[in-house]
Amino acid sequence: MTRPRLVGLSANVQRPSKTRALVDAVLRAAGARGALDARALDFVDAGPGLGAAWTRDQLPPPARALLDAIEAADGLVVGSPVYKGAYTGLFKHLFDLVDPGALAGKPVAIVATGGGARHALVVEHAFRPLFGFFGALQIPTAIYASDADFREGVLVEAGVRARAAEAGGQLAALLAHRAAQGAAHRAAPVALAAAE
Ligand SMILES: Cc1cc2nc3c(=O)[nH]c(=O)nc-3n(C[C@H](O)[C@H](O)[C@H](O)COP(=O)(O)O)c2cc1C
Repeated sequence: MTRPRLVGLSANVQRPSKTRALVDAVLRAAGARGALDARALDFVDAGPGLGAAWTRDQLPPPARALLDAIEAADGLVVGSPVYKGAYTGLFKHLFDLVDPGALAGKPVAIVATGGGARHALVVEHAFRPLFGFFGALQIPTAIYASDADFREGVLVEAGVRARAAEAGGQLAALLAHRAAQGAAHRAAPVALAAAE
């Protein structure tokens, strides 16, 4: 059985990045709970051409690779820094270019980081409607972290770390369930033929 592909996408435009660190923490937690093919990408990988593209066809190859990875993934960890009380404009811009059916039923974990705690509910009132539009299977635990939760770029706050572990476990369980369902689905015609 092929391993489920879990893609972490972080909308940071600088490195080191707290958002990327939080996305990585959820990917690690998911990888510890199940056999996954996990990788992380961020907007520094995409380069500035992402913002200049008005259509999918105009995306330069590094930005197109990000879009392709999102659409081909079996599950996602999506993250953005909070800018002006919401995900960044560039984050929304990328998802504006994603095929509307590409994320339907796929497990998605949501994370965000901000300077302080004031915008913690952004994960609920900004991100969830967007992934609701896509019909994604959003896991229950969304995670927000602020500057105070990191020390020298490392996520240290115990409560946020626990939520990242919880989210990773939820993702891994859903991905394993969907992989098993897919395998059973593929095996079904054989079983039926044998019964005839
Ligand atoms: C243009 C801009 C707008 C921001 N707006 C907010 C905001 O509304 N609320 C907040 O808590 N932090 C805000 N911040 C702070 C960032 O969200 C915070 O530093 C974030 O953790 C940076 O993530 P990164 O390290 O992945 O780049 C803003 C930062 C920038 C550059």
